[in-house]
Amino acid sequence: MDTYTTEPPTRTHIKGNQKHLVRHHNHEHHHDIIPQTTILMVVIPIVIVILLLAISLIIALLRRVKSSKQNGNADGNKNCMFVAHSIINFNNATDMKNGCIYGEGPCTLPSATSKGVQVFTYREMELATNNFNEAKLVGSGGFGNVYRGVLRDGTLSAIKVIHKEGKQGERAFRSEVDLLSRLKCPYLVDLLGYCADNQHRLLVFEYMPNGTLHDHLHSSNGRSQVLNWAIRLRIALDCARALEFLHEHTIPSVIHRDFKSTNILLDDNFRGKVSDFGLAKIGSDKLNGLISTRVLGTTGYLAPEYASTGKLTTKSDVYSYGVVLLELLTGRVPIDTKRPPGEHVLVSWALPRLTNRVAVAEMVDPSLHGQFSRKDLIQVAAIAAMCVQTEADYRPLMTDVVQSLIPIVHNLSFGSSASSFRFSKRVSPRA
Ligand SMILES: Nc1ncnc2c1ncn2[C@@H]1O[C@H](COP(=O)(O)OP(=O)(O)OP(=O)(O)O)[C@@H](O)[C@H]1O
Ligand SMILES: [Mg+2]
Repeated sequence: MDTYTTEPPTRTHIKGNQKHLVRHHNHEHHHDIIPQTTILMVVIPIVIVILLLAISLIIALLRRVKSSKQNGNADGNKNCMFVAHSIINFNNATDMKNGCIYGEGPCTLPSATSKGVQVFTYREMELATNNFNEAKLVGSGGFGNVYRGVLRDGTLSAIKVIHKEGKQGERAFRSEVDLLSRLKCPYLVDLLGYCADNQHRLLVFEYMPNGTLHDHLHSSNGRSQVLNWAIRLRIALDCARALEFLHEHTIPSVIHRDFKSTNILLDDNFRGKVSDFGLAKIGSDKLNGLISTRVLGTTGYLAPEYASTGKLTTKSDVYSYGVVLLELLTGRVPIDTKRPPGEHVLVSWALPRLTNRVAVAEMVDPSLHGQFSRKDLIQVAAIAAMCVQTEADYRPLMTDVVQSLIPIVHNLSFGSSASSFRFSKRVSPRA
């Protein structure tokens, strides 16, 4: 009996099992038809959802790449540590109804230390300047007088009183407030605040104790110092970085339109900062940033195409920068009718000499002799020659100028403090 139970199954048995297996299989197959449709009904929506998620992920990634490109633009030159801290301060902008004017670009929030632009009453301005006392007057320009003032928190400042008359003064005031409250860059003179009390229009800037580059290069008032080669080139680099920031690190770009040596101010270490945004224009997004406008600016600094047709681009600023570089190199003013014929216009006189190795050494400011290497001189002269080219398209970008000047300036010696600079006279603080 026992053996029977251990006997292998009979064929019939096997067959029976096979039948059973087949039946079982059929049974499973029968059950598979229902789940497959169910699975399809479940899987298809899942696949669709996954696809949609993947598509939106790709779109988000593409947007991020685009935005980081713009960010990279804003951070700009890696060698320029100050530009990395440049901010477009739109929290404190006076005109917020349009939001950030550089709408497409990423606007960086102001740093914790940034005070933003303050609003002052006229009374506060009177108190700061001792009722606009003559003794506090530091200079006067096309838009009005500039006074040295002390603000309510003790900050020393330069207070510019804009002429009331005419639309141009009002426009310049608005342009300065609008742009400078949004653009923060260590190479631009900082706007601390403004006053728009009734008809009064005043701008309050950080005080630049060493006045204008123009005074140091051209003035014979006894208060200015002759700047040495190293300091001149460092100022040239500071200004190049200011224009690079305006042209290439803001969206849309800003054209200064009045870049000249009286608008380059010097701090207590003779570092240069660019001022006066009264005439500045925001470049057009279309037409390669080209805008047609009324010709404003200063004779001797105007790019030929802008002077003759009013067509303004960032390359107009590059031309003006080239003129300032020539002033630094030669110590001459852009237009000097007291000079012999053929030497009245600095650019026309300098241009053929800039590319001639012998002539270039002869055109340098005599007070600089012995301070520079021939190689540096030739390189700086070449940069100036490129910037003042008649053909705007052939002028370099300010980024190119910055990159060319960096190695030259880095190899120069500035001493450990401002007092070790080689000046011909000691600085005397302004009244
Ligand atoms: N932030 C400042 N700190 C110290 N001094 C300043 C400051 N801003 C201007 N000044 C002084 O005031 C003077 C007049 O400046 P302003 O900008 O009004 O005219 P400008 O640049 O000389 O001429 P323009 O009106 O043609 O631009 C300057 O030459 C400079 O001496
Ligand atoms: Mg000025």
